[in-house]
Amino acid sequence: MILPTITRFALAPATVCLALASVLIDGPPPAAASQQHVCGRRLYLRNCAPCHGDSGLGDGPGAALVDPAPRDFSQVRFRLVSTDNGIPTRQDLFDVITHGIVGSAMPPHEHLSLEERSALVDFVRGLTRARRAEVLQAHAAENGESLPFEVALEQVHLEPGASVALPPLVPSTPELLAEGRRSYVMHCAPCHDEDGRGRSRTDLLDERGRPIFARDFTAGILKGGTSRLDLFRRIRCGMPGSPMPRFEAPERESWALLHHVESLIQPGAKERLTQVHTVFRPERVEGRLDADPAAAVWNEVSSRWVAVAPLQWTDERVDGFHLQVARDESSVGLRLVWEDSTPWAGGENVTPDTATVRFSLFEDPQFFCPGREGESAEIWQWQTDLGDYRFEPLGVVVESRHEDGRYELVFLRELEKLPERVGMSEEGVSVAFELRNGAAGDSDRSQNLTVWHRLAE
Ligand code: HEC
Ligand code: HEC
Repeated sequence: MILPTITRFALAPATVCLALASVLIDGPPPAAASQQHVCGRRLYLRNCAPCHGDSGLGDGPGAALVDPAPRDFSQVRFRLVSTDNGIPTRQDLFDVITHGIVGSAMPPHEHLSLEERSALVDFVRGLTRARRAEVLQAHAAENGESLPFEVALEQVHLEPGASVALPPLVPSTPELLAEGRRSYVMHCAPCHDEDGRGRSRTDLLDERGRPIFARDFTAGILKGGTSRLDLFRRIRCGMPGSPMPRFEAPERESWALLHHVESLIQPGAKERLTQVHTVFRPERVEGRLDADPAAAVWNEVSSRWVAVAPLQWTDERVDGFHLQVARDESSVGLRLVWEDSTPWAGGENVTPDTATVRFSLFEDPQFFCPGREGESAEIWQWQTDLGDYRFEPLGVVVESRHEDGRYELVFLRELEKLPERVGMSEEGVSVAFELRNGAAGDSDRSQNLTVWHRLAE
């Protein structure tokens, strides 16, 4: 079914820039953030509030859908820190905003300018400060005391310690690796297991009492990066708010452990799952485009890997698809290919497998919040229970097949019948994709999404 829902856009909450962030940050704001046009609050409400909530309590409209849950800036400590007092530096926050957290729904924001990301760092710090001051106020009130907000603010300590640096390299040798393994078995295997899969401890909880597993190194998805410095910092600083403890060892043992942990990590996995904001430009084909996914014309068109992030991270998940984008004289076509060894076979309680292409008709779409009310979008959808279709009034043809454990699907659309904003232009239109694998438990609440990309001429 094609659902061209053209809803009217409801005005974004904050066109007025409150000066919250610049009042509350400690230390001088970076030059960039003081520029008038970069407004942390506005950026936050658009890009972050859907998950983290308008006031940073981790209670945005998308929060209930995602697992692990978005950080609540009032209570919860930051995990990806480089300091030994557990408080993130401005750079730590900048890095997590830039790269996102693969292994969770926290998306990367590389597409925002340096100034914008810097303004977001300041805003998040200001927000954290304000929310924690309120927590202190609430504690005081419980004890029958009154604590003015300004005084509470002064009691919030968020000064990061010095960043820890790698000790001088001790190169890997068989002896050192064996030492590393011994240290690992003693200090790490109780949670991460000897084989590095971290699945046997089912009793671990994060600081909000939610179940959490130790990282499965063999899956290769490390939230804070896979460089030696990243690994060293996670081990040396721990991950505040999670059971992952700080572990400080002499230089030789530190390197022994690092080499051992590195040897467990599946290379390339994280890169495969990292969402990269991309501009897709249709390739012009010689002949005519064909909605048949097996048609020879598609062999001419180059294919790109597009990662999707599941809202809920489980071991069973769709991790991405291959995308071809092409056009001929009169049509534009998208061909998607993704692995699914359990094609939908009907059944009342199984969500059909679906693929959705969502075009935002809004200049600066709110990030990553599927179907947020009031946000206008043009939606192309295919689902296994309804099957392939052709709809003349909109000039759309959709054909699929399932072969060798994967779906191949083509959306073909007449250029003339595209709505103006989705029409092919130099500046392009924001486009996002969504895949559901019913057999793996996907549903309206559990799906696999991309960040907003762009489709442009
Ligand atoms: C789709 C939901 C979503 C959006 C949108 C989102 N986040 Fe997050 N964010 C998360 C989740 C989930 C986590 C926790 C991940 C985990 O614990 O593994 C997180 C964690 C964080 C953290 C904590 C990092 C740490 O070291 O513990 C910060 C800071 C953060 N987000 C900032 C932002 C900012 C700033 C934006 C907007 C520019 C943003 N997030 C947008 C879901 C989101
Ligand atoms: C008490 C249990 C526990 C012990 C002991 C433990 N870890 Fe962890 N570790 C965890 C948990 C839980 C996480 C995941 C935290 C999260 O997702 O926020 C984790 C995450 C990690 C990460 C992943 C960081 C990332 O970027 O994703 C590394 C690396 C790591 N541990 C290394 C070690 C090493 C090395 C040791 C031994 C010196 C060790 N851990 C000991 C529980 C433990």
